[in-house]
Amino acid sequence: MAASATFQQAFLLNNHLGSSSSITGTKLCTPSLYLREKSHDPSRKTLSITCTAVAPSSATPRTGFSDPVQDEGRVFNFAAGPATLPENVLKKAQAELYNWRGSGMSIMEMSHRGKEFTSVIQKAESDLRELLSIPANYEVLFLQGGASTQFSCLPLNLCGAEDTADYIVTGSWGDKAFKEGQKFCKANLAWSGKATKYTRIPSEEEVQLNQNAKYLHICANETIHGVEFKDYPTPKGDTTFLVADMSSNFCSKPVDVSKFGVIYAGAQKNVGPAGVTIVIIRNDLIGNAQQSTPLMLDYKIHAENKSLYNTPPCFTIYMCGLVFEDLLAQGGLSEIEKKNVQKAKILYDAIDASNGFYRCPVEKSVRSLMNVPFTLEKSELESDFIKQAASESMLQLKGHRSVGGMRASIYNAMPLAGVEKLVSFMKVFQANH
Ligand SMILES: Cc1ncc(COP(=O)(O)O)c(C=O)c1O
Repeated sequence: MAASATFQQAFLLNNHLGSSSSITGTKLCTPSLYLREKSHDPSRKTLSITCTAVAPSSATPRTGFSDPVQDEGRVFNFAAGPATLPENVLKKAQAELYNWRGSGMSIMEMSHRGKEFTSVIQKAESDLRELLSIPANYEVLFLQGGASTQFSCLPLNLCGAEDTADYIVTGSWGDKAFKEGQKFCKANLAWSGKATKYTRIPSEEEVQLNQNAKYLHICANETIHGVEFKDYPTPKGDTTFLVADMSSNFCSKPVDVSKFGVIYAGAQKNVGPAGVTIVIIRNDLIGNAQQSTPLMLDYKIHAENKSLYNTPPCFTIYMCGLVFEDLLAQGGLSEIEKKNVQKAKILYDAIDASNGFYRCPVEKSVRSLMNVPFTLEKSELESDFIKQAASESMLQLKGHRSVGGMRASIYNAMPLAGVEKLVSFMKVFQANH
């Protein structure tokens, strides 16, 4: 399908341009480049102009590859976050943007304490509870400051300064959490995958856990390195509980929440735009913050005020609510997991079947369903790969600056067609090189 569209646009034009013009251009046409306006001329009139917009994919057959782009000129966005959102969610938000459900205003303009927004945040919470089967003795908090702020909140709320907390570090995010933990408690590095370039998850025997640790922290899915826990480790002490950063695999599959003391996740990968971090916490763990904990970092204040102690990121929470509705409508997280397994398999199979042309460094059993890092055997071709993919409307495939190579983030909202298109492109690129 060639991505062409006809646009009708009204412009104020000078009389001497006549009453109609037809302009054909590439990409979204820019009539203003063609038509000079004399702003001092009072005799302007409105003119209808027909432009034919041609998306770059059909105009640049450099790879000899011409699969569909998404509807309405949207690209396949493989970014790690902020990441692609479901099209139907974006369209629903667009339809409701100006006048939310007859309220006469947008979500962004409403009081966060009014009945309309109260209904939005309550529905978002109850849908999330349904999706993850969150037990009644867990609070759901919608907080700000990103998942990075949680790196400090966790020790401040869950430990005394002299208490021990274990950290298993399987990538850069786990390492950041550990380093922040060291500031506020006796953080113990129970295992680090740094020496093996964060390509695997340790076995239970390899990990040095403390009997008296308050909690055991893991990053369930390392976004940069593409390493994902498939089973969760068991903490050593009788009262030690598991804490997981699920930022990049939140709501990508069912999770037994009761195995965790705390689960936290920035929204901007799988469940919404940037701006909110969701914290799911067992309620007996709330109310023990260190004396010096800033009020805004104390889970108790947010739990007591149902995440409305101060002004929350209302629009982001609304968007997350729409995503939760969409996930439920798709049949819940078991169905979502099936789709994610299928997408990831197609991509990993293509990498593994390329006779080493593409390589994924991560141990097969712990490869992420969400973030797929890969390199090219001929690394000098990597920038061409990224450029040519972009010319085919597949964007943000560059690996994180700390590891290089490529990375395809294939979160819930990445359609199967996007992964299939990437795989077809990879085959053509290989054949051409
Ligand atoms: C696994 C993980 N944890 C934490 C973060 C930090 O999140 P934020 O930028 O919301 O602070 C990220 C961001 O990409 C991440 O991928």
